[in-house]
Amino acid sequence: MSQLPFTQAIAPSNIAFLKYWGKRDGVMQWPAEDSLSMTLAVATTTTRAYFSADGQDSIELVGLDDTNSKGLKHLAFLRKEVGGGAYLKLHSSNNFPASCGIASSASGFAALTLAAIAAWTRSSNFRDLEKAGFPRERLAHLARLGSGSAGRSLWGGFVHWEAGPAPTLQKLHPCFAANHWPLSDLIIVVSDQKKPVSSSEAHGSAWTSPLFAPRLAGLHERRDAMLAAIADRNLSALGPLIENEALEMHSVMMTSKPSANFWTKETEEMLVWIRQQRAHHQMNAWFTIDAGPNIHLICSSERADKYQTMIAEAFPHVQIIRDEVGNGPQLEGYFPK
Ligand code: PMV
Repeated sequence: MSQLPFTQAIAPSNIAFLKYWGKRDGVMQWPAEDSLSMTLAVATTTTRAYFSADGQDSIELVGLDDTNSKGLKHLAFLRKEVGGGAYLKLHSSNNFPASCGIASSASGFAALTLAAIAAWTRSSNFRDLEKAGFPRERLAHLARLGSGSAGRSLWGGFVHWEAGPAPTLQKLHPCFAANHWPLSDLIIVVSDQKKPVSSSEAHGSAWTSPLFAPRLAGLHERRDAMLAAIADRNLSALGPLIENEALEMHSVMMTSKPSANFWTKETEEMLVWIRQQRAHHQMNAWFTIDAGPNIHLICSSERADKYQTMIAEAFPHVQIIRDEVGNGPQLEGYFPK
């Protein structure tokens, strides 16, 4: 299926160091606080958009048994933003397991937003999109309205989503380029089963946790410390901050009503093992965990091979995706002259 015209967007996933958890406003997607992430290079979603003659939009998610109603709703919303556009047939595939805490909604909604808007505006690259009135920050805000974390997948390197003092004053921008610091993310896939609760559902109960208000009170300090650690390329400073952040978000999830626990026995075993390796084998690698059971182990790219081998020897049945800081999304468009 590659008849002209079509557009193709390859959007990366991202891993949050400072987590987006809880919203002040669900309609405007106004997060409770800022978040900070590292854009990935390997884990991506590729989405092609073709014009459809079927009188309706459709989204085919390869390898996933899902009708993707959230995606169709977002497509209808984007069409209004563009001021109208033909029906589209989207074909989308992930190169990593989806819906298990590797932020497939981030790469998925970023790719969908880019491919669709590029098709409607006949754009073949980001310059064309900008000329058509869609600079990257606008695209990021549109993507985050599909899934919050998707807004951060519009740039490479390290990206900051500022909550701002009002829903309309949110900002999304890169804070350090990809070549600032060669970090790796060893994604340890202890389970590729679809998670029991989606993160969109679980966001809603964050405010019911007694730990949520104290969490918010300390977030600016943690954000500033993280930004300083990234600026200094200081992993020993960044590591404890990202671990505490992940543990705090999961504590909020576990103490919310209804509570959500994304961890499995394997998640906990892996955390124990990581701490042991750090204590006894000088492993300078630090974990973070999104809304799922899988672990992202952040380390310097120089050491990633060594640590990957250590994990594979200790846990031969576990899949490891070796990822690293990426350059951001790519866009192509093919339109007949
Ligand atoms: O973008 P959502 O609604 O899937 O929420 C993502 C939330 C986390 O992945 C857990 C944290 C984050 O900042 O990416």
